[in-house]
Amino acid sequence: MRGLADKVAIVAGGARGIGAATARRLAAEGAAVVIGDLLVDEGEAVAAAINADGGRAIAVRLDGTDAASQTAIVEAAVSQFGGLHIYHSNLAGGTQGDVDALDCPVEVLERSFAINTKSHFLATQAALPVMLAGGGGAMIFTSSGAASGGAPWQVAYPMTKNAIHALARHIASKWGRKGIRANVICPGVVLTEAVTQHLTEEYTARALKALPHTRLGKADDIAAAVAFLASADGEWVNGQVWHVNGGAQMRD
Ligand SMILES: NC(=O)c1ccc[n+]([C@@H]2O[C@H](COP(=O)([O-])OP(=O)(O)OC[C@H]3O[C@@H](n4cnc5c(N)ncnc54)[C@H](O)[C@@H]3O)[C@@H](O)[C@H]2O)c1
Repeated sequence: MRGLADKVAIVAGGARGIGAATARRLAAEGAAVVIGDLLVDEGEAVAAAINADGGRAIAVRLDGTDAASQTAIVEAAVSQFGGLHIYHSNLAGGTQGDVDALDCPVEVLERSFAINTKSHFLATQAALPVMLAGGGGAMIFTSSGAASGGAPWQVAYPMTKNAIHALARHIASKWGRKGIRANVICPGVVLTEAVTQHLTEEYTARALKALPHTRLGKADDIAAAVAFLASADGEWVNGQVWHVNGGAQMRD
C-alpha cells in the first residue's frame, strides 16, 4: 500500500487479536509501530517478533481509560520514532455482566463506557495535537457489527460502540481540512483468541451457515482494512463506518 513506509503508528489494544495483526501488517508495510496494551508481556512479544522480521516496533503499557497513559504513549511514539501519523484505537473490553437493559447494572454500563468509548475520546485528545502539528494523520477506530446489529442479549457494548461512530464523524468534519481523517471499522465475527474462548463449535457452525461467505473472519482481514484506511491509497476515505464482516450485515 502506498504511503505507509516511514510513517509512525500507535495500535492501542495491540497485544493480541486484531490489534496484533494490525501492528504486524503496518510494520510489514514499513511503518514504525508502538503497541499499547494492558497486557505488557504479550505486547512485547508482538514487538519482538516484528523486530525479528526486520520491522520496527516497541511495546508500552497503556491503560486506554487513563488520560496520562494516552499522553505517555503518544510521547513514546514521538521520542522513539519522531512523530505520529496513525492511531488505531482498537482496544475494548468490560463485557462481563452486560445483559439486557432491565438487568444490566449501571456499573457495567459505566465500565463499558470507560473502556469502549472514553478510551477513544482520550486517544483523540492525546494524538490529534501531534498529528495536526505534523500536517495530518489518520485515526482508525474499531467498533463492531454489534453497534448496528440489534442484540437482544446485550445493551452496553452496542451503545458504547455506537458512540465511536459519532466521535469519528466529529473528528472528520472538524479537522478534515487540516489533513486529519477519521474512520471506523465494524468487524463481524473474527476468530481471535478473545472470541474463540467463548464460542462453542455449534455457535461457530451456525455463524458460518448464516454468512454469505466461505469462512468466518481472521484478524488479518481487519488489519488489511486498517492498513488501507491508514495509507495514501485510502486518502479520500473520511468520516466513514466500514463493515468488514464477510457480508454478515449488508449496509449502505
Ligand atoms: N473478534 C471479533 O469477532 C470482533 C467483532 C467485532 C468487534 N471486535 C472489536 O475488535 C477489537 C479487537 O478485538 P479482539 O477480538 O482482537 O479482542 P482482544 O480482547 O484480543 O483485543 C482487545 C485488546 O485490548 C486490550 N485492552 C482492553 N482494555 C484495555 C485498556 N483499558 N487499555 C489498554 N488495552 C486494553 C486487551 O488487553 C486486548 O489485548 C475490539 O475493539 C473488539 O470490540 C472484535
